[in-house]
Amino acid sequence: MEIKKITIRGGIGKDGEREKVQEFELKMGDIISIVGPTGCGKTTLINDIELFANYNTPSQRQILINDEPIPDDFSFDPSKHPIALISQHTNFLSDLPVGEFLTIHAAVRGAENAENIIEETLDFANQLTGESINRLTGMTELSGGQTRSLLIADAVIIGNSPIILLDEIENAGIHRTKALELLKKYDKIFVFVTHDARIALLSDFRIIMKQGAMQKVIYTGIEERRAAQELKKIDDVMLEFRRLIRAGEEITEPVFNENIKNLVYNNI
Ligand SMILES: Nc1ncnc2c1ncn2[C@@H]1O[C@H](COP(=O)(O)OP(=O)(O)OP(=O)(O)O)[C@@H](O)[C@H]1O
Ligand SMILES: [Mg+2]
Repeated sequence: MEIKKITIRGGIGKDGEREKVQEFELKMGDIISIVGPTGCGKTTLINDIELFANYNTPSQRQILINDEPIPDDFSFDPSKHPIALISQHTNFLSDLPVGEFLTIHAAVRGAENAENIIEETLDFANQLTGESINRLTGMTELSGGQTRSLLIADAVIIGNSPIILLDEIENAGIHRTKALELLKKYDKIFVFVTHDARIALLSDFRIIMKQGAMQKVIYTGIEERRAAQELKKIDDVMLEFRRLIRAGEEITEPVFNENIKNLVYNNI
């Protein structure tokens, strides 16, 4: 089945009231964010999407693919499941070396040029994480950031899933801007659950959640896009300080001034 769009139809929040957002659509190429305080139902919303909920979850939401609901007894061939969910607590259970794991996944997915695809996957993952992933390392020995990076790269390239749901990647030490830049090149639907201002502002639109319900949809306008550009500068400075501290440097006055000067000149 070729997925052109999915529709999320609102159900009820934790208080049993109808959600304010009755419906929104996701089309191929869309990048969206889901935001809101802890416990407001962000993970629940992406779980509903992953399950293709059909009034059969506590939120009573309905998900349509190309305007059609998915029958309760329908199940996808696992090797062709259209959704990849990178959850808040994903860990690898297998301790195969990274290279072998990717080879097996590529074979299951019927990849034609497995070696190239594996190379591309590792290259993608290594652009997301600060610490390079070695093919011979056991999967369970990877760090949190490496694990998330590999899962994202694997879902995008080997899994080739048209819909990718990511639950809070920012806490895993992933290069966020790089991730968004790379992901924008793929014609897929990306849904980020995030507390990160930049991910939210680089999205096409964001869903605001409160007490288990979708409250509002905000489209990223020109002013917010400009704000995102300025925030990038601040963020890059913060990342540079983090790098210096990790590398054992001292943040002396000259070091501080040197790194902060671009921001000052730009009058932020
Ligand atoms: N529409 C709903 N109807 C009933 N229960 C809900 C609904 N939405 C969320 N819940 C319940 O509220 C609790 C918190 O939801 P959830 O884990 O999705 O929040 P979250 O926004 O992902 O939080 P965090 O930021 O801590 O990850 C869960 O127990 C979930 O089952
Ligand atoms: Mg959550």
